[in-house]
Amino acid sequence: GDKQVPMSNLEKGKFVNYARIESNLQVVRQRLNRPLTLAEKIVYGHLDNPHEQDIERGVSYLKLRPDRVACQDATAQMAILQFMSAGLPQTAVPTSVHCDHLIQAQVGGPKDLARAIDINKEVYDFLATACAKYGIGFWKPGSGIIHQIILENYALPGLMMIGTDSHTPNAGGLGMVACGVGGADAVDVMAGIPWELKAPKVIGVYLDGKMSGWTTPKDVILKVAGILTVKGGTGAIIEYHGPGVESLSCTGMATICNMGAEIGATTSLFPYNKRMASYLQATGRSQQAAYAQEFNHNLQPDEGSEYDRRIEINLSELEPHINGPFTPDLATPISKFAEEVKKNNWPEELKVGLIGSCTNSSYEDMSRSAHIAKEAADHGLKTKSIFTITPGSEQVRATIARDGFVDTFENVGGVVLANACGPCIGQWDRQDVKKGEVNSIISSYNRNFTGRNDANPATHAFVASPDLVTAMTFAGSLSFNPLTDSLKGADGKEFKFSDPAGHELPAKGYDPGENTFQAPPEDGASVNVAVSPTSDRLQLLKPFKAWDGKDIIDAPVLIKAKGKCTTDHISAGGPWLKYRGHLENISQNCLIGAINADNGKANEVLNQETGEYGAVPTVGAYYRDRNIPWVVVGDENYGEGSSREHAALEPRFLGGRAVICRSFARIHETNLKKQGMLPLWFKNPADYEKISGSDKLSIVGLNDFKPGQDIKVEITHKDGSKDSFLTTSSINEGQWEWFKAGSALNKMAAAAAA
Ligand code: F3S
Repeated sequence: GDKQVPMSNLEKGKFVNYARIESNLQVVRQRLNRPLTLAEKIVYGHLDNPHEQDIERGVSYLKLRPDRVACQDATAQMAILQFMSAGLPQTAVPTSVHCDHLIQAQVGGPKDLARAIDINKEVYDFLATACAKYGIGFWKPGSGIIHQIILENYALPGLMMIGTDSHTPNAGGLGMVACGVGGADAVDVMAGIPWELKAPKVIGVYLDGKMSGWTTPKDVILKVAGILTVKGGTGAIIEYHGPGVESLSCTGMATICNMGAEIGATTSLFPYNKRMASYLQATGRSQQAAYAQEFNHNLQPDEGSEYDRRIEINLSELEPHINGPFTPDLATPISKFAEEVKKNNWPEELKVGLIGSCTNSSYEDMSRSAHIAKEAADHGLKTKSIFTITPGSEQVRATIARDGFVDTFENVGGVVLANACGPCIGQWDRQDVKKGEVNSIISSYNRNFTGRNDANPATHAFVASPDLVTAMTFAGSLSFNPLTDSLKGADGKEFKFSDPAGHELPAKGYDPGENTFQAPPEDGASVNVAVSPTSDRLQLLKPFKAWDGKDIIDAPVLIKAKGKCTTDHISAGGPWLKYRGHLENISQNCLIGAINADNGKANEVLNQETGEYGAVPTVGAYYRDRNIPWVVVGDENYGEGSSREHAALEPRFLGGRAVICRSFARIHETNLKKQGMLPLWFKNPADYEKISGSDKLSIVGLNDFKPGQDIKVEITHKDGSKDSFLTTSSINEGQWEWFKAGSALNKMAAAAAA
């Protein structure tokens, strides 16, 4: 109805819009005339145009209106810089920014935090002031990890969110469709442009039975990852259902959804239930829980709804699992693990056990781990392995400190790290082994690819529940199975751990801890955004120039790229990540990994004006500074890999106007369009062979272009001879407007000003 229930207690005047979902679904139900899965209800409930939108799972591209946006500090920089260049006064939907990725774990919480605040000061100042200006909630360094803060404050059943981090699906534990996206998508939604998503397939995971003993929610996703593998969830929402759901806590469901990212799923989702209601109540949201209860008919799958694939798991029979090393889908039940360690020659000594992170740092997780640690302490033991604890949020940290768990952990030798990503994202100054030394670690995190945690390719990283991780650090060995094996206490007597016990929610309520939230002022118009003109990490963006209405004539081919050209070839990561907020500096990596088809070399291209060879970015900038437009020619699946928008911003910044390829990776193709570039496909893929890096190309007939039509390109070879070929494109009406305006954001800004 017309109820005004706030979307968050931290935001004034923004209300839960269940009415829109209801009315969208009325339209969609009439059209599809079949039972809907829960994922479909929420996704279609957010359609921009439910009447005309094609809806076919796995086929149609949906235009959606998410309810909110969340950004972490590494990706937020360019997203906000772009948003600023559109000149809009406020974000179109509630948005939050979270400082969690830039904090390195060295010695422990408070000191590491202080150092990060010092090193990243200009980035934090920029984000804080920009958030104040544009109405964005700002979570300061020390507040915690984005996904935990979202769960505590913003996630709600039935709503839809996008976030610039792959583990955004964590919010599925509260029944929200929450998807990880690139910065470009976040900017769109912040600017009021609908978000495009291929209509997801839906994989149903039916949970039966009841969890007990050492089995935890983490083991559900470890098992599912083993079944589906790292690619098995691609293009799909994983929808959990069945009677077993009732035995999972809300935070446990969040763990399962979080790690769904490891199987490539669009997101993961649970139906609304009492456990979610209790968590909402415990986090100050009784009103929202009551409203969700009223809306419950749309927060469950319809009877008889069909899944594209169905998996069944009996929780009563589910064993604890350990996944890894090097990949999260290599799942081994604990009963078989010691055997596998031997068989595969995995280093048996366990060097480090790490619990917490965005995946597993709930009060329940911490209380169960503390229970295990306490039992070991009662037998006079300290951990044999290094043992670290990363609280997911300041609220979790303060609450476990108040309730004595921090003392329990420290008492056995544990180190409580800052409320931040830390070792989970490789922000870990690990000292106990040298680079290259073969060793084993086990964490309750989500990702364990080679080098992810400590940049040491010889580290064998395993992933398990916090319970197993904690127990194993006391044995210091990967072969220890706490369900069956005993340890020797300080008194020389053997003992076995009892089954871990914990508390779903803190009996005394959550302790909010230090206030780490900066709410935006009522009116931010007068706030000055802090960007130092001498900064090498941040630079304000100038809007790209609008199209001059003329054909693109005699544009030199900057590079004809051969073979694979991924977003890593176009905009490398590693040390360049530091410049994510500085387009000019990061553009120095533009296409430096692409292989020049003319000479087989990377980053060595002909400057057609001087006749000399130079680095790709240098030659590009040379042309740009002389007002010479240039183009890139590419092979198959150009721009595959990540969704990073820098790969499209950089060529545009350096004066590129078009990329002509045999085929494009879809997200990169869209990113190019958004930045006012022309992504063109060879109509006849063999025409790729006609071109060399010493050619000039003219893209003609642009004034008469209508979406769907071919575009002609004329070649002038070095010797003056001429040729031509046709290209196609996927540019639609709206996207053509972006090209004319110079970028999608320019178009939005013009529309807002009109
Ligand atoms: Fe991501 Fe881990 Fe942080 S998965 S949000 S890096 S705690």
